[in-house]
Amino acid sequence: MDEPGPWSTQGSSVRLKLRRQPRWKLALSWCVEVGCSLLGGRRFYRSRNLLPGRFLIRHECIEVDDLPKGLEGFRIAHLSDLHAGRFIREGDLSAVVEAINQEGVDLHVLTGDYITHDVADAFQLTEDLGRLRSRHGGYAVLGNHDYRGRQEGRIVERFGEVGVHFLRNGAVRIERGDGTLALTGVEDLEEGKVIDIDGARAQLEEGDVEVLLCHNPRGGKLLARRGCAAVLSGHTHGGQIVLPGLRRLVGSSAPRHPGERVQCGPTTLIVNRGLGVVAVPFRYKAPAEVVIVTLSRGGA
Ligand SMILES: [Fe+2]
Repeated sequence: MDEPGPWSTQGSSVRLKLRRQPRWKLALSWCVEVGCSLLGGRRFYRSRNLLPGRFLIRHECIEVDDLPKGLEGFRIAHLSDLHAGRFIREGDLSAVVEAINQEGVDLHVLTGDYITHDVADAFQLTEDLGRLRSRHGGYAVLGNHDYRGRQEGRIVERFGEVGVHFLRNGAVRIERGDGTLALTGVEDLEEGKVIDIDGARAQLEEGDVEVLLCHNPRGGKLLARRGCAAVLSGHTHGGQIVLPGLRRLVGSSAPRHPGERVQCGPTTLIVNRGLGVVAVPFRYKAPAEVVIVTLSRGGA
């Protein structure tokens, strides 16, 4: 895992230093993306990553000491980094949605980056996301790309209409038998205007089992604490193209991938490789995936 690096803390807020790519890199990336798109990038990506059997359904079991009986076996479907735009559009996630619905989960969550460039692209996802089914519904946080033009409110509003509710430094408590799952969510640690972790946790009660949504996995170490079973994040795309030396060759400022599952003291950080891509419609050794997180009583 990266060292925490350039944190700044103000009161209960924690912020990561904004990474900005040089203009020439952004222009080059845009040209590559347009070129790939003209060559059939969307169809290529869909056929290799989004059709039945082409994406990974990764199962992660989180053991929690003294987990209330009511939460034993509680299952969460975790999606991330959909990056609607040139390579993912309406209907492209239909097989993913079917696969999740067949799992029969208790909750579905999304950890940001619904778009790459244009907020309106997120609306391409609403029909697919609206077909997701779980017992307690869908919740989400924003990723760094979603603040483009400071129009993230449009995504929040449209997704809300199809049952995906955003936790913007907020929480929802889900009671199940003798236990309560507290799902908390924070704004993106780079782009969010206000990042208020204490505010997000303010309504939690003693004994709640917390699962926290945070787009950037660099928040994992900082957000870990007793009572927080897991931090679910995305952002890295699992490296997207994992080739030795590639990062050095292209001088990539893309986020480093800390690993799919990292133990941060009492809290397990799950880093989702995501379903979408940026720049090129291609993944190598970083499969598109959905993570199914299951809570289980530890130390039994
Ligand atoms: Fe992303």
